[in-house]
Amino acid sequence: MKPLNLHCVIFPHTCQYCPFITCHNRKTMSKTVFLLVIFHLLVDVRFFVYGVVDEYRRDDFPDEFVFGSGTSAYQVEGAVLEDGRSFSIWDTFAHSGVPSYHGKNGDIACDGYHKYKEDIQLIADTGLEAYRFSISWSRLIPSGRGSVNLKGLQFYNDFINRLLAHGIEPHVTLHHFDLPQILADEYGGWTSKKSVKDFVAYADVCFREFGDRVLHWTTFNEGNMFALGGYDYGFSPPGRCSFPFGFHCSKGNSTIEPYLVAHHSLLAHASAVRLYRQKYKAMQHGFVGMNILGFWFEPYTNTMEDVKAAQRASDFYSGWFLNPLVNGDYPEIMKRNAGNRIPTFTKLESESIKGSFDFLGINHYSTLYAKDNSISLEMDTRDVDADMAVRYTFGKGNEIIPPQFPVAPLGLQKLLNYVKEEYGNPPIYIHENGQQLPHNGTLMDTPRVEYLHAYIGALLDAVRNGSNTKGYFVWSFLDLFEVIDGYTSSYGLYYVDMDDKELTRYPKLSARWYADFLKGKNVSTIIPNYMVKDSFSSSR
Ligand SMILES: *[C@@H]1O[C@H](CO)[C@@H](O)[C@H](O)[C@H]1NC(C)=O
Ligand SMILES: *[C@@H]1O[C@H](CO)[C@@H](O)[C@H](O)[C@H]1NC(C)=O
Ligand SMILES: *[C@@H]1O[C@H](CO)[C@@H](O)[C@H](O)[C@H]1NC(C)=O
Ligand SMILES: *[C@@H]1O[C@H](CO)[C@@H](O)[C@H](O)[C@H]1NC(C)=O
Repeated sequence: MKPLNLHCVIFPHTCQYCPFITCHNRKTMSKTVFLLVIFHLLVDVRFFVYGVVDEYRRDDFPDEFVFGSGTSAYQVEGAVLEDGRSFSIWDTFAHSGVPSYHGKNGDIACDGYHKYKEDIQLIADTGLEAYRFSISWSRLIPSGRGSVNLKGLQFYNDFINRLLAHGIEPHVTLHHFDLPQILADEYGGWTSKKSVKDFVAYADVCFREFGDRVLHWTTFNEGNMFALGGYDYGFSPPGRCSFPFGFHCSKGNSTIEPYLVAHHSLLAHASAVRLYRQKYKAMQHGFVGMNILGFWFEPYTNTMEDVKAAQRASDFYSGWFLNPLVNGDYPEIMKRNAGNRIPTFTKLESESIKGSFDFLGINHYSTLYAKDNSISLEMDTRDVDADMAVRYTFGKGNEIIPPQFPVAPLGLQKLLNYVKEEYGNPPIYIHENGQQLPHNGTLMDTPRVEYLHAYIGALLDAVRNGSNTKGYFVWSFLDLFEVIDGYTSSYGLYYVDMDDKELTRYPKLSARWYADFLKGKNVSTIIPNYMVKDSFSSSR
């Protein structure tokens, strides 16, 4: 049996890539929206229920906790060849005919490069306390290394200054799937250790130029998904993979590249942190962290095999990065199953990675069931999925997946509790959390409001239960160019009509709901009656 690729489960509308599941065409998929209610009746209600249904408000969180929302450079800026910017690997990927992008790309996106003044006004009007965005490396340093593009520098300086003028904290990501293409051409990008040096030089420029005003730096967005999506499955930039894994890439090697790329990302991260601590920390007093995509995994059954599978899934997804960052090495199970395909850290590297963070960033969307698939370990050639030996489902005995995530806020509580107990309760920012819905023009995104209400409530429970979580960011502020499917789905608080030349931003219900919350109002929401409080729910 072939392993069931996680992304095929989560983004079934991209399933023309997914050889291991029945592929519904788009028309069928849109029908599944209407099957949603049926889905909710079919899934195991013991798990997919709200953990929290109470009213709560901003004041229930500590004062120093920050609430915000975010975007990333390639996804909103557009202006891809303007004012000296060069292509990143994401530009190249988007122009390579990715089926789920339907011929679209980020050439214009939300035109954020030109509309940033009005966007920052909107950010302020919404009442965001912090804003998460990323710097486009190829806009700041178009040759990948060397001279700084003054136009790019000016853009980000003005962006940061305007946020600060409105009292909004900038939280900046350095690498959001967008290495300069020129470095990929020169030496293979993140598959080569040469990337480490160039990344640190780029980080140095950012700390030097912006660090007097930016206190929160994230080196990598979703280090784990960048390695998996980009180099094993091949359906996120740079789109590399090899047969029989991934989705018909022309180049790549799914058996070794994901491990190499993760390894180099960790080394680059640790070197950037060392640089910050030696050169900038005393003057700037900022914080540097790394971000991963963090799911919560429930065992499919309570058999020992599935319980171990869920643990293995956590080790391969989160432990891959968290274990080196906290303990200085990869989880034992990864080293055992990947053998000599996973690189080893020298003693010096291990020491430099261990403790090289001031916070961890977690992007959390949903919970999955994990089912043992140990048979994949018998394959002669294995990728990360086969080494992990887990199959995933959103529900039980149900292959119909709606285009939106099941609302499983208890999974967030469990994940935060797991990080607390397993990794010494480090400071955490939930950098992304939000509901995927069709990008179809409706401003009544009630399912998103329900989702956010449930997850922020769960977060409050987790904080009250001792999690050291310090902030939360809704993904995303605007409808933007999504990494998996371009403009097909949306997560935005604000709707953007990509066919309208003006690219006007319209507030959705979720923007109004979040603004009410941020302005201190009690929030409660319509709780659909198929969501019932269950025995797992913790009480407040
Ligand atoms: C707000 O919610 C709290 C519970 O979190 C409740 O005790 C209080 O009465 C509510 N206040 C208003 C004005 O509704
Ligand atoms: C991937 O790399 C390994 C190790 O270098 C090699 O044995 C294998 O043949 C490569 N696979 C492909 C598809 O190139
Ligand atoms: C858009 O998607 C929502 C689901 O979020 C659905 O309820 C609505 O009917 C759709 N609207 C159109 C015009 O297709
Ligand atoms: C709350 O924290 C305790 C102690 O770490 C833990 O045993 C418990 O499972 C946590 N509850 C939740 C809902 O995470």
